[in-house]
Amino acid sequence: MKAIAVTPGKPDSAHLVEMRTPEVSDVPNGRGVLVRVLRVGVDGTDKEINAAEYGQAPPGFDFLVTGHESFGQVEAVGSEVTHVKPGDYVVATVRRPGHSIYDLIGTSDMTTDSTYYERGINLLHGYLAEYYVDDAEFIVKIPQGLKEVGVLLEPMTVVQKGITQAYEIQRRLRVWKPKRAAVMGAGTIGLLATLVLTLRGLEVITFGKTPKPYLNSDLIEALGATYVTSDELPVAESPKRYEGGFDLIFEATGYSPIVFDSMQALAKNGVLVLSSVTGGDRRVEVPADKINLGFVLGNKVMVGTVNANREYFEAGVRDMSQAELEYPGWLSRLLTHPVRGLENYRELLDKLTNAKDAIKVYCQVAE
Ligand code: BGC
Ligand code: ZN
Repeated sequence: MKAIAVTPGKPDSAHLVEMRTPEVSDVPNGRGVLVRVLRVGVDGTDKEINAAEYGQAPPGFDFLVTGHESFGQVEAVGSEVTHVKPGDYVVATVRRPGHSIYDLIGTSDMTTDSTYYERGINLLHGYLAEYYVDDAEFIVKIPQGLKEVGVLLEPMTVVQKGITQAYEIQRRLRVWKPKRAAVMGAGTIGLLATLVLTLRGLEVITFGKTPKPYLNSDLIEALGATYVTSDELPVAESPKRYEGGFDLIFEATGYSPIVFDSMQALAKNGVLVLSSVTGGDRRVEVPADKINLGFVLGNKVMVGTVNANREYFEAGVRDMSQAELEYPGWLSRLLTHPVRGLENYRELLDKLTNAKDAIKVYCQVAE
């Protein structure tokens, strides 16, 4: 079968490889699920992997098959697999267990190991291929009614984990009832965070860079949320307009200085969720005393979040289902840039790096 791979360590090395088609029996104990890949989304992580800033090949290979945002249809299952059957639509999780206690209890997204295993990202081949096989434990069923938008589930899980963790942390307050949230960034993750927080009944203000109107601001307003640019309302100043600040802030800009502005926009007892994977080495000067004082006197919390385990994939399916009922067609408007066929990997990467109006770029691997 064909697959799209990079040579880790070599910038802009994307190429097609020919590989053995996997089989259900590659997974022991009758637990294999063989999946025909239909769509695979790409994101900033794929950009960094192709730029050789990130990603390692699996042991024994000099290439890494990329792609971690999967969507496909079950082709065959092993004898012990009961929760999916041939024909079902499925998405696979990304990280695989390492050795820490968190990995052992099914929460590899919380691993404390220094090495982590992620399909399409680090040490394991990804999904930009015609087929993949995996253990049933890592395969999540997608309802028929979500098949057009199923490729958005993986980015959705990153949001689900961050928000679930925030609520979990806030149980410390016993009576926490968040009313107003801010989302930093109006890209795919920012849009999905705006959706999830809106579905939870919060008033949401989403901060972007591009002046409205454009597709992303339209999508935010279609949810009844508010779009502002950080030029017209600097984040650190925003509690002047939004009195008291925000009960929950979800940061997803990829621009780390915004973190320190967000810390100043957080309400008393608020929680700030950081989700941007910032590989660079940017430095900034911050009003350290002021930020620290606000955190101390306001009992505030800041938490980092990465990856997502099965629980968040299942929660993501529920929120996407609710979204389709409340805001029909909204999710599919995020699928802006399809690229047909694995062989058009150049076009895929070109759109990922250059398409200014892109929300989700994805490869339509098969119909
Ligand atoms: C993926 C996550 C992954 C993270 C770090 C993100 O793009 O969506 O699943 O854990 O990169 O590698
Ligand atoms: Zn990703």
